Amino acid sequence: MVMTKKFYQLSVKERKAWLKAGQFLDAADVATYTPAGGLSQEVAGLMVENVVGLYSLPLGIAQNFVINDRPVLVPMVIEEPSVVAGASFMAKLAQAGGGFRASMTAPEMIGQIQILDLADPLGAQEVIEAHRTELLERASHTDPLLSKHGGGPRGLEVRLISSPVIGPFLVVHLIFDVQDVMGANAVNTAVENLAQPLEELTGGRVHLKILSNLADRRLARASVTIPKDTLAFDDFSGERVRDGIIEAWAFAAVDPYRAATHNKGIMNGVDAVVIATANDWRAVEAGAHAYAARSGRYTSLSTWSVTDSGDLHGELELPMAVGIVGGATRVHPTAQANLKLMGVKRASELGEIIAAVGLAQNLAALRALATEGIQRGHMALHARQVAIAAGAAADEVDRLANQLVLEKNIHSDRAGEILAEWRNAL
Ligand code: MEV
Repeated sequence: MVMTKKFYQLSVKERKAWLKAGQFLDAADVATYTPAGGLSQEVAGLMVENVVGLYSLPLGIAQNFVINDRPVLVPMVIEEPSVVAGASFMAKLAQAGGGFRASMTAPEMIGQIQILDLADPLGAQEVIEAHRTELLERASHTDPLLSKHGGGPRGLEVRLISSPVIGPFLVVHLIFDVQDVMGANAVNTAVENLAQPLEELTGGRVHLKILSNLADRRLARASVTIPKDTLAFDDFSGERVRDGIIEAWAFAAVDPYRAATHNKGIMNGVDAVVIATANDWRAVEAGAHAYAARSGRYTSLSTWSVTDSGDLHGELELPMAVGIVGGATRVHPTAQANLKLMGVKRASELGEIIAAVGLAQNLAALRALATEGIQRGHMALHARQVAIAAGAAADEVDRLANQLVLEKNIHSDRAGEILAEWRNAL
């Protein structure tokens, strides 16, 4: 299929045909993008309790991403206008600088075990450390399948913490390599298995046994360099856009009020891919924001700078607890199709893509904020939503949205009035 139109100019049906013609997906995969072929009520009923149905969100495909020299089509599930378009556009600019580089550290999660009622916390710490090898051996029997695939316990750390409310207590961190799963089940089982031996060793009382969402050993990193001339548009020179982006980032770097919004923009991209693969976006959100506050002061997850040759360089680093096997990802047909679309074979590759999309999204927001403002692009798409909500038919949506933007009056009552005028005139 020769594509004379851009992807965004195609109808939904044509986009699906394009995915099949390009052999990105087969007919069965594409069928998962329809309500009938996606998650069934029966399977949904097995996933959570009290199911009454399904809840839909738009699924778009971001274009132009080249990550570690590999072109990738990125599925994004999100209700907010401009996000998929922003990511695609920034990925296009990034191509001029060779695309995104991305990497992930080892897939090591942390499980926490809280030990209370210790007569001698420091002595108990020493005892645990002296029995590290046998405790790790015990934890290694948690998940035979994971062990077979190279996963399992990697280390044990003991922290002495003092609380003004409950006094001193110990926290054991079990470091666990979870390979290609998100890891919550494996880690929670492993820490539960260590409860009894730890009580026997220390004479204390094991209280909480649970994974930490501050997955700061499982980090995804992405970077991008955008040649400054690529940044120029309308009356804005490349230097002006570049410097405006750095000034915007510098604001987030020092001010938590701005950093929260800046990071929210990053998470617009991150969450959209996390959700498209049926991963736990609350876990990724919790990890990201805790990581952003790791210095004791909440700050930006990304950094932007100027290279020696005057180009714009951005980096993003955040915890990335996502899996490609197990959990909801395995049972959700659309998540399976989305993984296939991205061609990921390891959870680390998925994490790399997510980080690159987060960085692209951050760039899209900063570029807009530093130049024409966010509302121009946003309002055009918002106007479409208002038009749809006001009852515009498919062939009326664009015309009505344009009219609302022209009138600078993007409100449902005005949309209703215009529609009524048009229909009365027929
Ligand atoms: C809106 O969803 C996200 C932004 O507010 C991000 C930002 O301000 O950097 C535009």
